[in-house]
This record gives sequence, C-alpha cells and structure tokens, in this order.
Amino acid sequence: MAGLKVAIIGANGKIGRFLVDYLKHDPTHFDTPLAIVRNAEQQEYFNKEVQIHASLTSIEHTSVKEVAAAIKGYDAVVFTAGAGGKGVERIFTVDLDGCCKALEACEVAGVNRFIVVSALKAEDRDFWWDIPGLREYYIAKRAADHDVRLSKINWTILQPGWLQDEPSTGKLTPLDQVEERIKVDKTIKRQDVALFIKEALLHEKETVHKTITLVNGDVPINEFITTL
Ligand SMILES: NC(=O)c1ccc[n+]([C@@H]2O[C@H](COP(=O)([O-])OP(=O)(O)OC[C@H]3O[C@@H](n4cnc5c(N)ncnc54)[C@H](OP(=O)(O)O)[C@@H]3O)[C@@H](O)[C@H]2O)c1
Repeated sequence: MAGLKVAIIGANGKIGRFLVDYLKHDPTHFDTPLAIVRNAEQQEYFNKEVQIHASLTSIEHTSVKEVAAAIKGYDAVVFTAGAGGKGVERIFTVDLDGCCKALEACEVAGVNRFIVVSALKAEDRDFWWDIPGLREYYIAKRAADHDVRLSKINWTILQPGWLQDEPSTGKLTPLDQVEERIKVDKTIKRQDVALFIKEALLHEKETVHKTITLVNGDVPINEFITTL
C-alpha cells in the first residue's frame, strides 16, 4: 500500500515542523508530506533544507480554489496554522476563516480527511471567557470547530492544553480523567501534539468525527488511542 499523502497547513510552526519531521521519517506509512507555508523564505527552507515539496499558499490571502489546487491529490490535510494570538483581525482570518477555507478546499479538492489543532475546551465559554487576552482567540477557535463539525468529510478536532517546548513524554490523559487533570495541570508538549496527529492519521477509525482533548498524563499514546 502506498504511503499516506499529507498536506500540512502551518508546516513552519512549532507543531508543524515536528509533524513534518515525524512523517518524513516514516516512509513505511507516509509519502513525503507537503508543507504549506506563507512566504518565499519558508518555501525555500522546506525545498532546500528539509527537502520536501512546499506550497506558497498563505491561507489568509488565497481563495478556496487556490487552496484546493494546492492540496489536490493528497489524502489528508492537517491544519495547525495560527495567528499566534496576534491581533483580532489575524485571529479571525487565520484561526477562524483560514480553518473554514481549508475545510472548504478539502471538499472542493476531494480530500476526505481533515485534522485541525484547536484549543482546550473551546466549546466551553465559561472556561475561557475570563482568561486574560484569550477571549477573541477562543471565539475564533470555537466557531471554527463548529464549522468543522458540520462538514461531511472525515474530520478530527484536537484540543490541546497550554503548549510547551520541552521534549515529548509520549503520554496523555484519558478523556474521562481530563477534568480532574486540568484542575492541576493544563499543559502538553508540542512534540506530543505532533506525535498524536501522526497517530490520528494512522488510526482514522478511532479518531474520526471526534473532538479530542490533549493534555499530558500517564497513558502512552498508543494505549490512549484504544480508549477513544
Ligand atoms: N499556545 C498555546 O498554548 C496553544 C494552545 C492550544 C492550541 N494552540 C494552537 O496550536 C496551533 C499550533 O501551535 P504552534 O505552537 O505550532 O504555533 P506556531 O508556531 O505559531 O505555528 C503556527 C504557524 O501558522 C503559520 N501561519 C500563520 N498565518 C498563516 C497563513 N496566513 N498561511 C499559512 N500559514 C500561516 C505561521 O507562520 P509563520 O511561521 O510565518 O509565523 C506558523 O508557522 C495554533 O493553531 C495555536 O492556536 C496553541
């Protein structure tokens, strides 16, 4: 069986770069991934240094048709782009409308698998309304998630907690223990989010049409998947 062809929107981001690396080094399961980036320097970096194809397709500045052309022929799209919380307009054009556009582009291009990196408890206004500086960001994430859930394609919404740069632990908190866990610790390593995305791509049946909270914990990722 040929490897899965995955296009990554936000490939130059911290999670994106880990994911590119994981997919590139697993040729048994994955074809070389496509990095979707927003400027020429990033495209050159992926082409020359990482040695994978890169598409210069800023999700804010391109039409659905153009995004569809970039992802046509791929099996799955991962959306891990984000405005980095910088400015309400960019939050709305990247985290919200960028996600919606990517989803529409999947429908146009016939790509049937879509994984998006959202945020912890995005659907729960009471959780985020009063977190300083995060209200607009969370409004965008919540609305994007709603749009994703209406789609007929095979979506998965990932809702990681507060992201950290330390090395992977490879372990997560089972969903039935998340509420207790986040009372004391809401964090997850970015590397573990990327590792989980890779596993979700390989375990479509267990992860499709699900909203999955990701915080570090005590259960190895492969075992966590069996609890979904
Ligand atoms: N920070 C947290 O604690 C937290 C918690 C939960 C979820 N999240 C979400 O997790 C996701 C990924 O996190 P991360 O740490 O990997 O973020 P990151 O390093 O900021 O990566 C986001 C990527 O999106 C790219 N991007 C921005 N605008 C774009 C556009 N118009 N077209 C294409 N790409 C664009 C950025 O490009 P540049 O490289 O040019 O900047 C960057 O590479 C984000 O959606 C974030 O909201 C974050």
